[in-house]
Amino acid sequence: MSLGESVAGRKPVRLGILLSGRGSNFQAIAASIREGRLTEVEIAVVISNVADAAGLTVAQGLGFSTAVFVSRGRKRGEHDADVAQCLKSHRVDLVCLAGYMRLLSPEFIAAFPNRILNIHPSILPAFPGLDAQHQAFDYGVKIAGCTVHFVDEDLDHGAIILQRAIPVLETDDAQTLAARILVEEHIAYSEAIARVASGVYELRGRRYVRRS
Ligand code: GRF
Repeated sequence: MSLGESVAGRKPVRLGILLSGRGSNFQAIAASIREGRLTEVEIAVVISNVADAAGLTVAQGLGFSTAVFVSRGRKRGEHDADVAQCLKSHRVDLVCLAGYMRLLSPEFIAAFPNRILNIHPSILPAFPGLDAQHQAFDYGVKIAGCTVHFVDEDLDHGAIILQRAIPVLETDDAQTLAARILVEEHIAYSEAIARVASGVYELRGRRYVRRS
Protein backbone atom coordinates (compact mmCIF):
# COMPACT_ATOMS: atom_id res chain seq x y z
CA MET A 1 0.00 0.00 0.00
CA SER A 2 1.51 3.30 -0.99
CA LEU A 3 1.60 6.02 1.64
CA GLY A 4 -0.39 8.22 -0.70
CA GLU A 5 -3.33 5.87 -0.27
CA SER A 6 -3.05 5.51 3.47
CA VAL A 7 -4.20 7.89 6.16
CA ALA A 8 -0.70 8.25 7.58
CA GLY A 9 0.30 11.86 8.08
CA ARG A 10 -3.27 13.12 8.25
CA LYS A 11 -3.61 14.54 11.76
CA PRO A 12 -6.15 14.24 13.15
CA VAL A 13 -7.43 11.36 11.09
CA ARG A 14 -11.08 12.10 10.43
CA LEU A 15 -13.41 9.11 10.79
CA GLY A 16 -16.71 8.55 9.02
CA ILE A 17 -18.80 5.97 10.87
CA LEU A 18 -21.40 3.98 8.93
CA LEU A 19 -23.96 2.07 10.99
CA SER A 20 -27.36 0.45 10.64
CA GLY A 21 -28.28 -0.60 14.18
CA ARG A 22 -27.53 -0.23 17.86
CA GLY A 23 -24.06 1.25 17.30
CA SER A 24 -22.18 -0.21 20.25
CA ASN A 25 -18.93 -0.35 18.25
CA PHE A 26 -19.37 3.30 17.31
CA GLN A 27 -19.93 4.14 20.98
CA ALA A 28 -16.80 2.23 21.96
CA ILE A 29 -14.75 4.18 19.40
CA ALA A 30 -16.24 7.47 20.62
CA ALA A 31 -15.42 6.53 24.22
CA SER A 32 -11.84 5.61 23.30
CA ILE A 33 -11.36 9.03 21.74
CA ARG A 34 -13.10 10.88 24.57
CA GLU A 35 -11.08 9.06 27.24
CA GLY A 36 -7.76 9.62 25.48
CA ARG A 37 -7.08 5.99 24.59
CA LEU A 38 -7.37 6.71 20.87
CA THR A 39 -5.50 9.87 19.99
CA GLU A 40 -5.00 11.97 16.86
CA VAL A 41 -8.34 10.71 15.57
CA GLU A 42 -11.74 12.41 15.49
CA ILE A 43 -15.23 11.43 14.39
CA ALA A 44 -16.25 13.71 11.53
CA VAL A 45 -19.68 12.26 10.81
CA VAL A 46 -21.95 9.32 11.66
CA ILE A 47 -24.09 8.10 8.77
CA SER A 48 -26.87 5.53 8.77
CA ASN A 49 -28.84 3.86 6.02
CA VAL A 50 -31.64 3.18 8.53
CA ALA A 51 -33.61 6.20 9.71
CA ASP A 52 -34.41 4.87 13.18
CA ALA A 53 -31.07 3.21 13.92
CA ALA A 54 -30.45 3.41 17.67
CA GLY A 55 -26.80 4.28 17.08
CA LEU A 56 -27.83 7.37 15.18
CA THR A 57 -29.86 8.64 18.12
CA VAL A 58 -26.88 8.08 20.39
CA ALA A 59 -24.62 9.95 17.96
CA GLN A 60 -26.99 12.90 17.88
CA GLY A 61 -27.14 12.89 21.67
CA LEU A 62 -23.35 12.99 21.83
CA GLY A 63 -23.34 16.00 19.52
CA PHE A 64 -21.80 14.40 16.43
CA SER A 65 -22.70 15.44 12.90
CA THR A 66 -25.09 12.83 11.56
CA ALA A 67 -26.75 12.03 8.26
CA VAL A 68 -29.31 9.50 7.05
CA PHE A 69 -29.49 8.09 3.56
CA VAL A 70 -32.23 5.47 3.55
CA SER A 71 -31.07 2.62 1.34
CA ARG A 72 -34.24 0.55 1.17
CA GLY A 73 -35.61 0.56 -2.36
CA ARG A 74 -32.70 2.50 -3.82
CA LYS A 75 -30.14 1.35 -6.37
CA ARG A 76 -26.87 0.50 -4.62
CA GLY A 77 -24.75 2.76 -6.80
CA GLU A 78 -26.98 5.79 -6.37
CA HIS A 79 -27.26 5.35 -2.61
CA ASP A 80 -23.52 4.82 -2.23
CA ALA A 81 -22.80 7.94 -4.31
CA ASP A 82 -24.81 10.01 -1.82
CA VAL A 83 -22.96 8.48 1.12
CA ALA A 84 -19.57 9.00 -0.55
CA GLN A 85 -20.43 12.62 -1.28
CA CYS A 86 -21.39 13.16 2.37
CA LEU A 87 -18.15 11.56 3.58
CA LYS A 88 -16.11 13.73 1.22
CA SER A 89 -17.93 16.88 2.28
CA HIS A 90 -16.97 16.06 5.88
CA ARG A 91 -13.37 15.50 4.74
CA VAL A 92 -13.36 11.92 6.01
CA ASP A 93 -10.01 10.12 5.83
CA LEU A 94 -11.05 6.72 7.14
CA VAL A 95 -14.46 5.04 6.81
CA CYS A 96 -15.39 2.69 9.67
CA LEU A 97 -18.22 0.24 9.08
CA ALA A 98 -19.77 -0.44 12.47
CA GLY A 99 -22.65 -2.80 11.98
CA TYR A 100 -23.40 -1.39 8.53
CA MET A 101 -25.74 -3.99 7.06
CA ARG A 102 -25.28 -3.08 3.43
CA LEU A 103 -22.88 -4.30 0.76
CA LEU A 104 -20.79 -1.52 -0.78
CA SER A 105 -20.58 -0.86 -4.51
CA PRO A 106 -17.19 -1.21 -6.27
CA GLU A 107 -17.32 2.54 -6.97
CA PHE A 108 -17.63 3.34 -3.29
CA ILE A 109 -14.74 1.05 -2.39
CA ALA A 110 -12.60 2.60 -5.13
CA ALA A 111 -13.38 6.07 -3.79
CA PHE A 112 -11.68 5.19 -0.46
CA PRO A 113 -8.77 2.90 -1.38
CA ASN A 114 -7.49 1.02 1.68
CA ARG A 115 -9.45 3.48 3.74
CA ILE A 116 -12.52 1.46 4.69
CA LEU A 117 -12.47 -0.76 7.79
CA ASN A 118 -15.00 -3.33 8.94
CA ILE A 119 -15.44 -5.36 12.09
CA HIS A 120 -16.72 -8.90 11.87
CA PRO A 121 -17.64 -11.13 14.83
CA SER A 122 -15.60 -14.18 13.86
CA ILE A 123 -12.02 -15.19 13.33
CA LEU A 124 -11.98 -14.73 9.57
CA PRO A 125 -11.81 -16.41 7.13
CA ALA A 126 -14.11 -18.65 9.18
CA PHE A 127 -17.77 -17.75 9.24
CA PRO A 128 -18.15 -14.74 6.94
CA GLY A 129 -21.62 -13.32 6.44
CA LEU A 130 -24.59 -12.98 8.73
CA ASP A 131 -24.90 -14.41 12.25
CA ALA A 132 -21.22 -15.29 12.47
CA GLN A 133 -21.37 -15.93 16.22
CA HIS A 134 -24.23 -18.40 15.77
CA GLN A 135 -22.43 -20.04 12.87
CA ALA A 136 -19.32 -20.49 15.04
CA PHE A 137 -21.30 -21.77 18.02
CA ASP A 138 -23.27 -24.25 15.93
CA TYR A 139 -20.10 -25.46 14.23
CA GLY A 140 -18.67 -26.28 17.63
CA VAL A 141 -15.48 -24.25 17.48
CA LYS A 142 -13.47 -24.00 20.71
CA ILE A 143 -12.00 -20.59 19.86
CA ALA A 144 -14.09 -17.66 18.66
CA GLY A 145 -13.48 -13.94 18.34
CA CYS A 146 -13.53 -10.98 16.04
CA THR A 147 -11.63 -9.49 13.12
CA VAL A 148 -11.03 -5.92 11.99
CA HIS A 149 -10.12 -5.83 8.31
CA PHE A 150 -9.85 -3.57 5.30
CA VAL A 151 -12.85 -3.75 3.03
CA ASP A 152 -12.47 -5.01 -0.50
CA GLU A 153 -15.05 -6.10 -3.04
CA ASP A 154 -15.60 -9.54 -1.51
CA LEU A 155 -17.67 -10.11 1.60
CA ASP A 156 -15.68 -10.05 4.88
CA HIS A 157 -12.52 -10.66 2.88
CA GLY A 158 -10.02 -7.77 2.87
CA ALA A 159 -6.60 -7.74 4.57
CA ILE A 160 -6.76 -8.36 8.30
CA ILE A 161 -5.62 -5.59 10.64
CA LEU A 162 -6.10 -7.47 13.89
CA GLN A 163 -8.02 -10.27 15.54
CA ARG A 164 -8.95 -11.01 19.13
CA ALA A 165 -9.76 -14.54 20.24
CA ILE A 166 -11.63 -16.01 23.21
CA PRO A 167 -12.32 -19.59 24.26
CA VAL A 168 -15.82 -20.95 23.78
CA LEU A 169 -16.94 -22.11 27.21
CA GLU A 170 -18.85 -25.32 27.95
CA THR A 171 -21.47 -23.11 29.57
CA ASP A 172 -21.89 -20.80 26.55
CA ASP A 173 -24.91 -20.55 24.36
CA ALA A 174 -24.89 -18.54 21.14
CA GLN A 175 -26.06 -15.41 22.97
CA THR A 176 -23.48 -15.48 25.75
CA LEU A 177 -20.77 -16.20 23.19
CA ALA A 178 -21.89 -13.23 21.07
CA ALA A 179 -21.90 -11.00 24.15
CA ARG A 180 -18.34 -12.00 25.06
CA ILE A 181 -17.19 -11.51 21.46
CA LEU A 182 -18.73 -8.02 21.52
CA VAL A 183 -16.54 -7.09 24.49
CA GLU A 184 -13.52 -8.01 22.36
CA GLU A 185 -14.91 -6.09 19.37
CA HIS A 186 -15.05 -2.92 21.42
CA ILE A 187 -11.35 -3.24 22.24
CA ALA A 188 -10.33 -4.40 18.77
CA TYR A 189 -11.86 -1.62 16.71
CA SER A 190 -10.12 1.25 18.50
CA GLU A 191 -6.83 -0.64 18.45
CA ALA A 192 -7.17 -1.28 14.71
CA ILE A 193 -7.96 2.38 14.02
CA ALA A 194 -4.91 3.37 16.05
CA ARG A 195 -2.73 1.05 13.97
CA VAL A 196 -4.04 2.39 10.68
CA ALA A 197 -3.81 5.99 11.82
CA SER A 198 -0.28 5.52 13.13
CA GLY A 199 1.15 5.03 9.66
CA VAL A 200 3.72 2.56 10.95
CA TYR A 201 2.01 -0.44 9.38
CA GLU A 202 2.00 -1.45 5.76
CA LEU A 203 0.39 -4.06 3.54
CA ARG A 204 2.63 -6.81 2.17
CA GLY A 205 0.24 -8.76 0.02
CA ARG A 206 -2.58 -9.59 2.41
CA ARG A 207 -0.35 -9.23 5.47
CA TYR A 208 -0.73 -6.02 7.47
CA VAL A 209 2.54 -5.71 9.34
CA ARG A 210 4.51 -3.17 11.32
CA ARG A 211 7.08 -1.46 9.09
CA SER A 212 10.61 -2.48 9.88
C1 GRF B 1 -21.15 -6.36 15.47
O1 GRF B 1 -21.23 -7.65 15.98
C2 GRF B 1 -20.20 -6.28 14.32
O2 GRF B 1 -19.13 -7.17 14.44
C3 GRF B 1 -21.07 -6.67 13.16
O3 GRF B 1 -22.31 -6.08 13.43
C4 GRF B 1 -22.45 -5.91 14.84
C5 GRF B 1 -22.74 -4.46 15.08
O4 GRF B 1 -23.00 -4.20 16.43
N1 GRF B 1 -20.48 -6.25 11.92
P1 GRF B 1 -23.10 -2.70 16.93
O5 GRF B 1 -24.17 -2.01 16.09
O6 GRF B 1 -21.76 -2.05 16.75
O7 GRF B 1 -23.51 -2.79 18.36
